[in-house]
Amino acid sequence: MSYVEDPGPGYGSLPPRAAFASDAASLSLSGTWRFRLSPTADFERDGFDDSAWDELPVPSMWQLHGYGKPAYTNVHYPFPVDPPHVPSDNPTGDHRRRFDLPAAWPAGPAVLRFDGIDSCARIWLNGVELGVTKGSRLPSEFEVGPLLRPRDNVLAVRVHQWSAGSYLEDQDMWWLSGIFRDVTLLARPAGGIEDYWLRADYDHTTGLGTVRVETDADVLLDIPELGVSAHPAGLALEVPVEPWSAESPRLYDGTLSTMAERVPVRIGFRTVTIDDGQLKVNGRRLLLRGVNRHEHHPRTGRAVPRDVALADVLLMKRHNVNAVRTSHYPPDPAFLELCDEYGLWVIDECDLETHGFGPLEWRGNPSAEPTWADAYLDRMRRTVERDKNRPSVILWSLGNESHTGPNLKRMAEWTRHRDPTRPVHYEGDHECSYVDVHSRMYATHAEVESIGLRSDPNERRRDLPFLLCEYGHAMGNGPGGLLEYRELFERYPNCQGGFVWEWLDHGLAAGDHFAYGGDFGEPIHDGNFVIDGLVFPDRTPSPGLVEYAKIIEPVRIEADADAIRVSNHYDVVSTAHLTFTWVLEDEGIAVAEGVLDVPTVQSGQSVSVPFPRLPATGGESWLTVSASLTSPSSWAPGGHVVGWGQLPVSPARVTERPARRGPVFRTAGRLLLGIGEFEPATGRLTTLGGHPVQGPRLDVWRATTDNDRAESAEGWREAGLYRLQHRVITVDADGDDLVVRTRVAPPALASGLLADYTWTSLGDRLQLRVEITPDGLEGTLPRLGLTMAVPGALGTAEWFGAGPGEAYPDSRQAARIGRFSRSVDGLQTPYVFPQENGNRADARWLRLTDAEGTGLHVEGDPVFDFTARRWTSADLEAARHTPDLVAGELVHLTLDVAQHGLGSASCGPGVLPRYRLVAQKTEFTLRFGVAN
Ligand code: GAL
Repeated sequence: MSYVEDPGPGYGSLPPRAAFASDAASLSLSGTWRFRLSPTADFERDGFDDSAWDELPVPSMWQLHGYGKPAYTNVHYPFPVDPPHVPSDNPTGDHRRRFDLPAAWPAGPAVLRFDGIDSCARIWLNGVELGVTKGSRLPSEFEVGPLLRPRDNVLAVRVHQWSAGSYLEDQDMWWLSGIFRDVTLLARPAGGIEDYWLRADYDHTTGLGTVRVETDADVLLDIPELGVSAHPAGLALEVPVEPWSAESPRLYDGTLSTMAERVPVRIGFRTVTIDDGQLKVNGRRLLLRGVNRHEHHPRTGRAVPRDVALADVLLMKRHNVNAVRTSHYPPDPAFLELCDEYGLWVIDECDLETHGFGPLEWRGNPSAEPTWADAYLDRMRRTVERDKNRPSVILWSLGNESHTGPNLKRMAEWTRHRDPTRPVHYEGDHECSYVDVHSRMYATHAEVESIGLRSDPNERRRDLPFLLCEYGHAMGNGPGGLLEYRELFERYPNCQGGFVWEWLDHGLAAGDHFAYGGDFGEPIHDGNFVIDGLVFPDRTPSPGLVEYAKIIEPVRIEADADAIRVSNHYDVVSTAHLTFTWVLEDEGIAVAEGVLDVPTVQSGQSVSVPFPRLPATGGESWLTVSASLTSPSSWAPGGHVVGWGQLPVSPARVTERPARRGPVFRTAGRLLLGIGEFEPATGRLTTLGGHPVQGPRLDVWRATTDNDRAESAEGWREAGLYRLQHRVITVDADGDDLVVRTRVAPPALASGLLADYTWTSLGDRLQLRVEITPDGLEGTLPRLGLTMAVPGALGTAEWFGAGPGEAYPDSRQAARIGRFSRSVDGLQTPYVFPQENGNRADARWLRLTDAEGTGLHVEGDPVFDFTARRWTSADLEAARHTPDLVAGELVHLTLDVAQHGLGSASCGPGVLPRYRLVAQKTEFTLRFGVAN
């Protein structure tokens, strides 16, 4: 059997060891290589002429440089499940790199390190084979000292897209190939440090750190800041230290040295334990406010440079994320160094997923097959050995979605034996027979609650800490229902939070839009299921991230009987680093502001402080209190807000309803009322204060979200809700009110809704009362309200209500009450797969104006939701990519009394009952006027 189809881990590489840099000579071999897709005979030979080959950057993934195409599948293997065999048409990229050694390169041993090659490579240096590596997201190293020459070394790497290893790498992501992480040549001085494990524990009862270096070399440790000097390896040393945590990532710089080599180290002292069924670090229970992070960049795929990893870390920290699961493979080592430095709790997951056996009822699944045992263990060893020195890593994870079996159990046993200081995670061990924490994905709120209540009959599982390794599927518009998860995590000490699926949309840049599964003509694919992140592919935060940041904010500010309650939800730190400021807004206009004196609140505690002295206000007023960083931190500037709350100060002014100024006129075939003109036959508003409009009519449809399509959309479609027809029953224009009675119903069905519109003139405004009564229609509705169209020139929206971002019933914590302004274009959220978006909630009033500032005014009684778009809901529904949305002549406005929730049914629970919009008798009122 060829090495490609050998289920084993490969051959020729050195035993795995920690990732580290030292003062020994090193040479990056990343850069421009020669490349040819399709295997070429003798290409590994020294004298082979590659001058006619293309150039390719390394690291890279060749499909993103025009060789072959990306392909996306979630669960299914894109090749026949015939393990360990792979297609004979196996794209193979031959890579060649010539290099000279720097002048001062020392003679002697040297190691060639590959940080990641997808999926299998055979490697030669100067015509001599070094070996074969598999395990795409894992390092491999080869001894090359004797082969090196000062000039014109030739490194030849043959990379196969498919290998036996592909069966273990069925993660939900793009299939992409190549040398996608760094390649480095490292001199290995005799008497140097081959590997080390710097164990740094913290005893929270004494405040002492214990440091001990495990290594084979004669190593001395220096930590100048702690007065540690020339401390020998093997011996434990106790010193008073500040512990490391994600919230206070205290690192001590030190050095490991032998006569021959010095390794700079950054030491974080912390101890992970499971006590009383709770996961703790340094004696503190953790609440994991996490995300699952894949490595992805819209142009470079899984070749993610350090600056992008840093951008991720900063964005996470600025959105209150405190934990990352490295789904579903170890990340580039640079990412974990950043987690150490900036502070994130990490579940470091092994590169393993065999999900594609699921649809085959797990028959032949490698997790249970002895032929794959070595490959499994090899992958785990390479994970643990590489990352063992990272304080941020608090749990090891065996992999993802690989069912269960002895090979996984063996990985767990080896890991626990090798590293007793970190618990083992694997969601697929449902019985929790070989893991240390109970983990689930997409459990409903009710299931989490029952786990919290410790009602599980399985005793082992019941007594373990519980976490959601995946929840809150962030596909498209959503997720909804995160608040209710947080409430459970706070109520039940064993429910220790979770990791939203997932951090990033894996869209690939395709000109003016982002591509997803199927866009490359893949015969088998999972469409836009790869677009399910909290940030867009270009790392713009989506509304889902803004919402998550608010829900997991570490400081909560709420109203508390005439006082302001400030609660500290950090796991460790106090609020001493925060400044509390307040601003009083009268109808959204700031009228006073100040600093709030809040005593330092310790983790888990809260205080109540009195309201500041506030000036009198005339309109609806809110006090917004924000907690922000007093000084810049490593991850955000001073003034960055970590938490905020709003407290009502005074309600809206009760305005005198102007005396009615009817009546309705029918004259010369026209129907007029106040500032409006109506179509006589249908009673539909056509002109409002001189502006031509397509008057408001009942509408319940929204362009379905990914979550809708997984839960309610089929029923909505069957009920014909997307194609309602309006039958005018009567237009009653006698007297002061214009009353239009209609029945609104879909073709072919008997059920519908009765909608009565009562128009009244209030002088400079027109009041519309709408009464809606289901007529045989049952179940939920996408939304409930009106649709109208106004001239496209009305391109600016200003409103007083919830904002600035979109909000839906189960995803609206991040919206505050204020006065906001956006262009109509700026109201849209450019979800990669177009769908309902941009709803602004609880508007008290809305002005839509043109460049001169004139236009229309809509007032709620008291509030309404709205969207404003340059296309219809039907256009939005039909679009597949953002450029499909083409601005028309009109602005389409929805004015709603309610929206159905979002839920996260695209993978997980649907909309919670309290957020479902059930068809029922409803009445609401709006007033229309002219803005100038
Ligand atoms: C999970 C899986 C993830 C992802 C998610 C859906 O089952 O672990 O990798 O596929 O579903 O987006």
